[in-house]
Amino acid sequence: MQTLEWDNSLSVGVEEIDAQHRTWIDRFNKVVEAVSDRRGATEISKTLGFLVDYTEEHFGTEEARMAETGYPDMPAHRDRHDDIRLTLNGLVEDFREDGPTEELAGDVETFLGNWLIKHIREVDMKLGAFLAAQ
Ligand SMILES: [Fe+2]
Ligand SMILES: [Fe+2]
Repeated sequence: MQTLEWDNSLSVGVEEIDAQHRTWIDRFNKVVEAVSDRRGATEISKTLGFLVDYTEEHFGTEEARMAETGYPDMPAHRDRHDDIRLTLNGLVEDFREDGPTEELAGDVETFLGNWLIKHIREVDMKLGAFLAAQ
């Protein structure tokens, strides 16, 4: 399984958000490692829990910045966050029901990985440009 690397091409131009994206990717990588190493259920559910918690913290930060600054695309951006929240909760549910299956490993890697990176590149970039211009 592939882990993700943060690089400058993912910078949204706002230090606080970039720093959180690094941590977010790091938490994601910890899940990938735990699942691909077939670590015990406790360990995997711990890494998933950290990822869920940090996702909430990070989305909370972005949503607060959007609200403070009157970001016009806030509703659409928040909807995309809700999609990721749902996806992530679905993975946690799948894990609870079936454990660390091949399927879960594949879903964690491709689906969430793509979503995470795509969200940063396509949705957070626009927010970053708006905040940097404030
Ligand atoms: Fe976002
Ligand atoms: Fe973000």
